[in-house]
Amino acid sequence: MRTLGFIGTGNMGSALAAAAAKNPENRLLLSNRSRKKAEALRERIGGEVTDNCGAANADYVFLGVKPQMLPEAAPELKDVLADMIVPPIVVSMAAVTSISRIKELLGVHIPIIRIMPNTPVAIGEGIILYACSGEVTSAAEADFLSAMSAAGRFVKVEERLMDAGACISGCGPAFVDLFIEALADGGVACGLPRALALELAAATVSGSARLMLETGKHPAQLKDEVCSPGGTTIQGVRALEKGGLRSAVIEAVISAYHK
Ligand SMILES: NC(=O)c1ccc[n+]([C@@H]2O[C@H](COP(=O)([O-])OP(=O)(O)OC[C@H]3O[C@@H](n4cnc5c(N)ncnc54)[C@H](OP(=O)(O)O)[C@@H]3O)[C@@H](O)[C@H]2O)c1
Repeated sequence: MRTLGFIGTGNMGSALAAAAAKNPENRLLLSNRSRKKAEALRERIGGEVTDNCGAANADYVFLGVKPQMLPEAAPELKDVLADMIVPPIVVSMAAVTSISRIKELLGVHIPIIRIMPNTPVAIGEGIILYACSGEVTSAAEADFLSAMSAAGRFVKVEERLMDAGACISGCGPAFVDLFIEALADGGVACGLPRALALELAAATVSGSARLMLETGKHPAQLKDEVCSPGGTTIQGVRALEKGGLRSAVIEAVISAYHK
């Protein structure tokens, strides 16, 4: 049995806590500035509601507050952690906040796992990029991955690549949502009912992505396999190229990265 404390049970904190709750080896401590939010989460997934210092008395402490709120939340945590003989592993999900910045806020000796989850964590289909500070042993890393396996696929990256990776996996759901909506709009323009068009569009994106991941085929090869000579699909591909789809997507990732 291990204890996981969640400080900040907003959108992402609660999605990760819900994934953690699926593992019977995990005991959950939930803390949020507005206590009602943590209580509502407890009703849904179980666990105990406590305050931030209470949630720090855990094996893993998840920081789920917005990055700009960290300097406000950190001082009391730093004091609690300094008094502990074996400090917990702090798991930070804060965007664009480095491991060294978290150490600056909480103490240099604290083991940190920096993660960058995305919204499909809520259904166990997330991509969670992660990097560990030097204090995290390989046994602790393996235990963390086991504790959180219901959240989705964990991908270890060098910390310097985390922001770039996040522009695909973290921002990507919004980009893909735009594509799904546009695909459905096209169907509606051709006479399909909206709900049916959305269902077809979303399932097509999901199935195509899965096909690529499971076959290991390059997307260009999969595209070529659908485009019969003189057929309908290649005409659609021509329209997408004319509209600059690829360039627009590349620019979207780079714009997010520069921001
Ligand atoms: N959402 C995403 O897709 C996503 C993806 C990757 C990473 N992240 C990261 O996840 C973190 C949370 O983002 P979010 O989207 O989940 O934000 P959110 O929904 O606003 O959640 C933040 C939560 O933190 C609570 N909070 C604020 N100050 C606190 C304090 N001092 N002590 C305890 N709780 C406090 C807030 O409580 P109140 O209810 O009182 O405001 C709120 O419930 C951020 O660091 C973000 O960069 C988010």
